Amino acid sequence: MNTTDPDEKAIRESFLPFSVPSIGEEEIAEVADSLRSGWITTGPKTKRFEDQFREYIGSRHAIAVNSCTAGLHIALTALGVGPGDEVIVPTLTFCSTANVVVHLGARPVLVDVGEDFNVTPEAVEAAITPRTKVIIPVHYGGQACDLDAIYALAARYNLPVVEDAAHAVGATYHGHKIGSDALPPTLLPPTGGDRGGGQGVRVVTVFSFYATKNMTTGEGGMITTTDDALAEHMRLLTLHGMSRDAWKRYTSAGSWYYEVVMAGYKDNMTDIQAALGIHQLRRLDSFIRIRQRYVRLYDETFADLQEVETPVRHSDRNHVYYIYVIRLDLDRLTIDRAQFIEALRAHNIGTSVHFIPVHLHPFYQERFGYRRGDLPQAAVIYDRIVSLPLYPRMTEADVHDVIRAVRHIVTKNRR
Ligand SMILES: Cc1ncc(COP(=O)(O)O)c(C=O)c1O
Repeated sequence: MNTTDPDEKAIRESFLPFSVPSIGEEEIAEVADSLRSGWITTGPKTKRFEDQFREYIGSRHAIAVNSCTAGLHIALTALGVGPGDEVIVPTLTFCSTANVVVHLGARPVLVDVGEDFNVTPEAVEAAITPRTKVIIPVHYGGQACDLDAIYALAARYNLPVVEDAAHAVGATYHGHKIGSDALPPTLLPPTGGDRGGGQGVRVVTVFSFYATKNMTTGEGGMITTTDDALAEHMRLLTLHGMSRDAWKRYTSAGSWYYEVVMAGYKDNMTDIQAALGIHQLRRLDSFIRIRQRYVRLYDETFADLQEVETPVRHSDRNHVYYIYVIRLDLDRLTIDRAQFIEALRAHNIGTSVHFIPVHLHPFYQERFGYRRGDLPQAAVIYDRIVSLPLYPRMTEADVHDVIRAVRHIVTKNRR
């Protein structure tokens, strides 16, 4: 296994991290302004960030939270998920998509993914039972799921959809931004099931601003929806269940009096986070364009390497490439994925793996009885995937270093 040769010169002299955020002087000045202003928790900047985000996405409501995980938990809580319920979750996701279901005493029903690594509508439909309460599609890597088919299922079975858009801020589906009021295109009326209510498919979308994401607030997230009642409920849940605008109680415009109308959580975003978000949002489209340009370089140069499969892309969606994930054809290589990663490391290139499928983690196997073979597509994908560095702070020369290293390792370890 000739992955690392101590005598071989590394392609890079310095280590290229897997991900580094792009924080500019404007973000730094805005954070300093918050720190100096005396108002450091939820306040006017959080409100401004919510307004700007709502406008960018085209959504009726935007509710800032301190993580996507918190937002998913709040969305499921507001939709009434509890013990005895089932929630459909793709297995190829970060653990938090499933963990929040467990926190509510419900069962995550894990389903398999397709060639684009997104959940397939067929797998979702096969998993629906009378106990199903919510469907959570994950827009893997920043490319939307097959939303028409998923919304059609949601309408047919009268199920709400909580979109895990942790990777997908700025992504579009049929020209509409993920999380916008235009999705679903028409509020399809429920046509069956016993969960009635007649209000059409309810959709909540949750974004992440974690440090590695396409835009970041360090930690943070945003919930969007067009549903007024759900939005009001979710907003209350973010801050102890205290009546509206309780955050203002320490301002001259506020009142000391508030009422707790439900046992809410402490999931609010701070103005320090929002200070970052306001400027990151302004820069988001340019960040996405750089990612897409680097992806074209990767795609074009890997096209002639039979051992490396590049990501599947759908022409009806704008893919924002939170991650660039290659799939190794292990039958053509003498090394496995772990050795491939080790070889890149020896050439000073950081990588990651997105994701260890949820059904392979010990907790999910022990608690819910999952086994590797239950969701075979994701298990096979997992053995072969590697996420390469991709972020706007990389230079084009960095991208070419990664390309040279991948080509070198593949060529050297051909079967
Ligand atoms: C698919 C997915 N969902 C949810 C999350 C959780 O996001 P956060 O760290 O903002 O809670 C992540 C984070 O990486 C993710 O990749």
